[in-house]
Amino acid sequence: MDLQALLDDIASESAPFAAQGKVADYIPALAAVPATHFGIALATMDGGTYGSGDWRMPFSIQSVSKAFSLALVLARDGEALWTRVGREPSGNPFNSLVQLEYEKGIPRNPFINAGALILIDRLLSLTGDSLGTLRDFLRAESGQAAVDLDAEVAASEAAHGHRNAALAHFMASCGNLENPVERVLDHYFRQCSLRMSCADLAKAGLFLANHGLRADGSRLLSRSEAKRINSIMLTCGTYDAAGDFAYRVGLPGKSGVGGGILAVLPERGVLCVWSPALDRHGNSVAGVEALDRFTTRTGWSVF
Ligand code: DON
Repeated sequence: MDLQALLDDIASESAPFAAQGKVADYIPALAAVPATHFGIALATMDGGTYGSGDWRMPFSIQSVSKAFSLALVLARDGEALWTRVGREPSGNPFNSLVQLEYEKGIPRNPFINAGALILIDRLLSLTGDSLGTLRDFLRAESGQAAVDLDAEVAASEAAHGHRNAALAHFMASCGNLENPVERVLDHYFRQCSLRMSCADLAKAGLFLANHGLRADGSRLLSRSEAKRINSIMLTCGTYDAAGDFAYRVGLPGKSGVGGGILAVLPERGVLCVWSPALDRHGNSVAGVEALDRFTTRTGWSVF
């Protein structure tokens, strides 16, 4: 298969779908990103990297980072995590408050905001520096030493982070935070503001396609843990549209409101798409379209 030609076709067919979406504007620094960007990259298990469009341009990875946080916590702490967070789809928006109260401060899954705050809290306890641990891992796996945060986006997140603060304070009131709320939020906002390109993210995610083995051949996760993360990505990785994403794309995926989506092709590689205009659930419209076209054309889904 001519993967380069395929990605070029998919890029030109999918990019116009951005017109159906809207760039996230609840964080002012994200609203400034032009909706016209489109990138797609494929990193393959044999070391190849293919891309089309803006595939080398860094963007705000936002919640795509949460797939990596989950991996880093599970690698250190194993199953203990599941006493503090569930693994069921929430059926609610990622920043919803309502479910957390009647479920007594235990977030439905690690990929909604409340669940991601638990991951950061735990990684802080385990390492003393959640953001630094994540950033070092992303640099090592992507081979991109320049992976860093966007201070303007981080400041904008913090200035408009009232809902995340509410979620964190509520969990603290239920005894489900180990570190001070302000510290957890600070690491969360800065983590969301990390900037990477489609190529960087696709390479960084290869351990998920490779049963938990890192780029240097060392093991981060057991085969079973890698399977579990992929399963949670499939069921919860695209917020309250995870069912539709699974139906259309048929791959584990994790999206972010910067317009990125990471999708895992087990034993083949990792795809990353970026187009900033989002649907009402917070997923990139052209990004989902591109992944749908990719699995339809190649037959490379998990089903
Ligand atoms: O918490 C926020 O508002 C954003 N930084 C969330 C990032 C995102 O992509 C959606 N979250 N699950």
